[in-house]
Amino acid sequence: MEKLVITGGNALRGTLPISASKNAALPLMAAAILGPGTCRLGRIPQLRDITTFSHVLRIAGAEVSREGDGLLIDASRINFPEAPYELVKKMRASFYMLGALLGRCGRARVSLPGGCAWGPRPVNLHIDGMKALGATIDLEEGYVVASAPNGRLHGGTIVLQPSSVGATVNLLLAASTARGGSRIENAAIEPDVVVFCEMLQAMGARLHGTGTRTIEIEGVPLLRPATFANCPDRIELGTFMIAAAIAGIPEKPVTLTGARADHLGQDFMGAFLRTGARFEIADDKILIIPPEVLTPVSIVTAIYPGFPTDLQAQWTVLLACCEGTATVTDQVYGDRFNHIPELARMGIEVRVNGNTVTVAGGTKLKGARVMSTDLRASVSLVLAAMVAEGTTHVGRIYHLDRGYERLEDKLSTCGIDIRREAYDEFAAPEVPA
Ligand code: UD1
Repeated sequence: MEKLVITGGNALRGTLPISASKNAALPLMAAAILGPGTCRLGRIPQLRDITTFSHVLRIAGAEVSREGDGLLIDASRINFPEAPYELVKKMRASFYMLGALLGRCGRARVSLPGGCAWGPRPVNLHIDGMKALGATIDLEEGYVVASAPNGRLHGGTIVLQPSSVGATVNLLLAASTARGGSRIENAAIEPDVVVFCEMLQAMGARLHGTGTRTIEIEGVPLLRPATFANCPDRIELGTFMIAAAIAGIPEKPVTLTGARADHLGQDFMGAFLRTGARFEIADDKILIIPPEVLTPVSIVTAIYPGFPTDLQAQWTVLLACCEGTATVTDQVYGDRFNHIPELARMGIEVRVNGNTVTVAGGTKLKGARVMSTDLRASVSLVLAAMVAEGTTHVGRIYHLDRGYERLEDKLSTCGIDIRREAYDEFAAPEVPA
């Protein structure tokens, strides 16, 4: 297994490039299944989740290869409409194959994802939505087995409560080629979904109201392959903004390039400014100017344009670097706090009560051996290690490799003492002489 070894106390300085978005890339890859022929997707990051999903597509019959910074997906032959448990359990977004395969083949056998590191993550809206589009659904040996009557779904109306990124994507995949019109109410308006809708439109889908809470879809018999470029990763951007605020040199800007600041949403940007950190935006560059003293700012996660749940663990570390007390409340995933016991091992003073974490900032963090538990939790440990006294070993970084491209290269180029090492997780400590 691999770990990151980080010695804290070095300032972050210079320029950090923002990679292409992981969460936007996955639906784009699923959409490629709907067009017989070859889709060219630009700006697809080199990440574990992308490798996993490429494999999911290959199982269904697609040919997937790297081309430049992106992917070529040849979906001429989709002859095995299945997504196996072995891959879906590694990455829940594989469940997008339910909509993609129903839309392309009129049938699908897709493993149910099950739980995840931070508790139950239901897919009831995905399933109910497919039923509203006419699919018959059975559960067989942990798999959702779905089929469309006479091989093609029909139009339907689906109200999402709560609004869900995954269900919106899955239903758009299924409804784009359905017979007749469909409507998704309370649809997700996250930038990832808007970019995905643009790709579907480039493939010939007829969508109205994208980027709003009501999306209407006029079904067409078949989509065609398209060439499409993905957007930058907004969660990596937010993570690096926090990194610059806590580990940068006061009043010395850190530059983030290739970014889309407008994709982060007003709540994150507002909270960031209230800490005393500043930013200047020039085209796709964002300059982050760390303050002398960070002010603690409480946040509550919410769907876009609210504060992203995918940035709350990182925000907790920022609060630890402030003098004073503030809270992080997760309204989207009420028990997404696996990082807290690990951060506590580094000396962070926190209390968890329900879906709220109270952080008493100002205590100097100390290096420790800690363990990644999920993607965003692991990056929060890296942030804490950057400002901690001494050396931190962050284990199980396969979680981090799912969603952060070349993280240690990027940070070490900017002054952080960070390296990757192999280790044996199960090696017993030596008995003292
Ligand atoms: C996506 C992101 C994930 C992010 C999350 C919330 C990807 C690959 N993942 O996940 O990084 O943390 O959005 O921004 O893009 N819900 C239901 N029933 C359902 C589906 C969802 O009740 O059938 C609930 C969830 O429990 C949650 C809320 O809806 O409380 C939003 O979840 P959702 O937007 O679906 O998250 P994902 O698409 O799984």
